[in-house]
Amino acid sequence: MDSQIISEAKPENLNRIAAIHQTVLKDTFTSQVGKSFIAKLYELLISDEPLSKVFIVKKAGVVEGFISITRSRLAINNRVNQFLGFTGKLRLSLFVLLHPRIIKELFNKIMLDNYIAKNYRDSYPSILTLGVSPKYQGKGIGRTLILRSDKYFKEQGLSKYFVDTEMKNKSAVQFYLELGFRPATTISGNIILEKNI
Ligand SMILES: CC(C)(COP(=O)(O)OP(=O)(O)OC[C@H]1O[C@@H](n2cnc3c(N)ncnc32)[C@H](O)[C@@H]1OP(=O)(O)O)[C@@H](O)C(=O)NCCC(=O)NCCS
Repeated sequence: MDSQIISEAKPENLNRIAAIHQTVLKDTFTSQVGKSFIAKLYELLISDEPLSKVFIVKKAGVVEGFISITRSRLAINNRVNQFLGFTGKLRLSLFVLLHPRIIKELFNKIMLDNYIAKNYRDSYPSILTLGVSPKYQGKGIGRTLILRSDKYFKEQGLSKYFVDTEMKNKSAVQFYLELGFRPATTISGNIILEKNI
């Protein structure tokens, strides 16, 4: 059996990460916008150390899973806003108008971000995204990625971190509960879970 190798993501991994993201997080806003947009977002995350970090798991030399995490959700949201700039936001707004299906998801996300900004301010270290390619799901890659994140946050001197996901994503919620997260609250179709490390 091939062993799993975990490491930090590098620029040459971005397309593969974006492809997995678009496959397993296909209903998200970012996936609808497109693969090159997703790859740019991950490029931002890997270049923003120590604010954010992306770990990957390879099997037989191929990336099969990833996790992106941040020490401060508020700061990373600001960075993404800066990165988009006026033209980027305008293009995204036009995209949303042409794809009304995603308005609800976007609204829920804005409500969640506002809740986090108001209630946690700068103390919301969290998982941003997590995905394992369908062929390798259920084989322990997700667990490996969470344990690596636990270690990273501990090294940063933190004793707790968060994750939020859509409440309807029952398998992800079950996975997080199994990995030691506990529900903190629910807001606009999303659940926030926290883990003491
Ligand atoms: C959720 C996800 C990251 C889990 O990764 P994974 O590599 O498949 O999970 P693991 O094999 O490490 O599972 C660890 C434990 O979580 C639980 N678990 C995993 N998948 C589960 C599922 N679909 N339903 C219920 N429990 C599950 C199991 O208890 C498992 O332990 P076990 O194998 O000893 O029974 C992966 O399935 C995925 O990419 N899903 C689609 C994208 C997504 O929902 N991402 C999270 C939201 S951001």
